[in-house]
Amino acid sequence: MTTSAPVLGLADTLKTQTQAAHTAAERHEFQGRVLRGMLGTDGYAAQMGQYYLAHKALTDALARASADPRIAALIRSYHAYPQLFEADLRHFGIDPSSVRPLASTQRIVAEISAADPLALLGFTYVAEGSTNGGKYIGQALRRALNVPNGEGLSSLDPHGEAQRERWHEFRGGLDQLKLEEASRLRLIAAADRYFAYVIELFDELSKAFPANPANLPLTR
Ligand code: HEM
Repeated sequence: MTTSAPVLGLADTLKTQTQAAHTAAERHEFQGRVLRGMLGTDGYAAQMGQYYLAHKALTDALARASADPRIAALIRSYHAYPQLFEADLRHFGIDPSSVRPLASTQRIVAEISAADPLALLGFTYVAEGSTNGGKYIGQALRRALNVPNGEGLSSLDPHGEAQRERWHEFRGGLDQLKLEEASRLRLIAAADRYFAYVIELFDELSKAFPANPANLPLTR
């Protein structure tokens, strides 16, 4: 009897292939300082403003491509939530229209605007997938920023109780796509690229908010 290794579906392939990038993003020192409240609300708001611009570019591009059957099969109206970012930014006294892209965001916005539907789905995998961790990030920030009711944190948890169900539906939709190998690789490459963007963004934000002794927790 011969056995063959199980073939991963697209959703599991994406998860497996981007695991190292996820760990790098999750453990990035800028992210760590934000989560520990070391930058107050400024660091978080700066990060959110950049996510807002990328989110808007992505959801606008998905809307333009909505007639494509692969986009129509996977993308739902609840995947677009710029209004949550806008409310959060306003909560921190930032006019959403005043947010300017950093260089990394400028690059990804340009790439999103020129992307084909499969690349858009690869970008969306990462952006949507990040809402799984967003829930926990929101809980950490409630404590770190002393906002027990989560004011200004709504864009981290756009799906609320429907999170798991919607994420499973999206993953299922990925697995149902009938793609030639080249198309599948293009989608996976776009997911890699979006993770790379997030790391580039954190690197930029890290320079904009340099660690200094005043930011370090007091030790005895
Ligand atoms: C402190 C930061 C982060 C934490 C604690 C975190 C945590 C998590 C957790 C708990 C999951 C769910 C895993 C599961 O149910 O299997 C997840 C999934 C995911 N996260 Fe994060 N995450 C963080 C940052 C990020 C960032 C910055 C991105 C990219 C923008 C990201 C993208 C994803 C993706 C794409 C998934 C879906 C993986 C899959 O099931 O295919 N995460 N994250």
